Amino acid sequence: MTKAAFRFSAAMALGLMAAPVHAENQSVEMLHFWTSGGEAESVRALQDALAAKGIAWKDAAVAGGTGANAYQVLRSRVASKTPPSGAQMHIQETLVWAREGLLRDLSGLAAKDGWRDSVLASIQPNYVVDGKWIAVPVTMHRSNWLWYNTALLKKVGAEPPKDWDEFNAIAGKLKAAGITPLALGGQNWQYGDLLENIILAKGGPEFYRKVIAGDHEAIKSETMVSVFDQVAKLRGYVDEGSPGRDWNLATAMVINGEAAFQIMGDWAKAEFALAGKQPDVDYGCVSAPGTGGGFVWLVDNFAFFDTGDDASRAAQDTLAETVLDPKVQVDFAIKKGSIPVIRDFDNARLDVCGRRSFEDRTSAEGKNGVVPSIFHNAAMPGAQTGVYLDVVSEFFVTPSMTSQDAIEALIEGLDQL
Ligand code: GAL
Repeated sequence: MTKAAFRFSAAMALGLMAAPVHAENQSVEMLHFWTSGGEAESVRALQDALAAKGIAWKDAAVAGGTGANAYQVLRSRVASKTPPSGAQMHIQETLVWAREGLLRDLSGLAAKDGWRDSVLASIQPNYVVDGKWIAVPVTMHRSNWLWYNTALLKKVGAEPPKDWDEFNAIAGKLKAAGITPLALGGQNWQYGDLLENIILAKGGPEFYRKVIAGDHEAIKSETMVSVFDQVAKLRGYVDEGSPGRDWNLATAMVINGEAAFQIMGDWAKAEFALAGKQPDVDYGCVSAPGTGGGFVWLVDNFAFFDTGDDASRAAQDTLAETVLDPKVQVDFAIKKGSIPVIRDFDNARLDVCGRRSFEDRTSAEGKNGVVPSIFHNAAMPGAQTGVYLDVVSEFFVTPSMTSQDAIEALIEGLDQL
């Protein structure tokens, strides 16, 4: 061995050569559930921005809409003491991990970077628990959207419906023309999304808030009967392939002209974009029927586990700073279909659906019409949401179950918690 080669290998052995030794720490392993075509494309926007700062994003993706499978994997990884550096999660999940004392406190970073001033004030109370920032908000989605295939609506001479009566009338025409009215994936959370949209439509924001609060009078009311009556009507508007279908395959039905409508959060837009479809030309994005003055929000967060060394903490901090960078906020939101979680950004860069989301939220704020999504874990603890998921799923697939039966099952389930 030459002297130089000896010095090199000795330095390697002692860990004196900075670049190779740190390289393995300059990464963050992120557990997430962004696995559809459009979602994977959006993740790339974050990966690229992070790579530009010398940090690699190690992907730990777990398929399954709204994260139930990913949350399961996260639990087992934490139990086996091999947590990822970070995980995508909704507000309620974040609160659970924070209460367990397992998340990194990001307050130092938040103070240094001025998150109090930059992050939307309305969502901050969800992140600051006992004075500590428990996660970094990444992006805001909206669940009360109706997506439609423009050509199919034209075929039956219909305009996008503003309320459920109009929707039902158009669905009748579509069926008569041999077109599936509603693209639906029969999975419990997708039934749930229908339910939360119809609760808001039939009852308005105050009623919706009462339901979240577990108000028995609201849950037993005639309004709730009319909510389940409308859910029951939807059974007749979906195709036979609906049970078990993933949400993005339902979106593909609208994209390909196999169904006219889908009620889905704005992550659906990423699928239309990936297929090269133009908003307001090939497809439309409007408020879900009857929810015009309202905005049902949910936020995806990144929460970080303390994996124990300064290098990995620094990499986590860099990721948090990257996602809140105003340019990255917009780059990501454009791809994901969401809107930024910061106050100041270049609104003009959003497409027509993104701008509509932003304008609708502003107008809903003025009417106290902004409410959290139940089925994307922004509104209530998991056990309570679980009762709703069970009841609405059973209801949808059991035509003999009446709206009154569903309400009784809800009350019974909630009372047992
Ligand atoms: C939501 C999540 C979105 C999107 C969607 C489908 O719960 O917040 O980012 O991934 O589920 O999985």
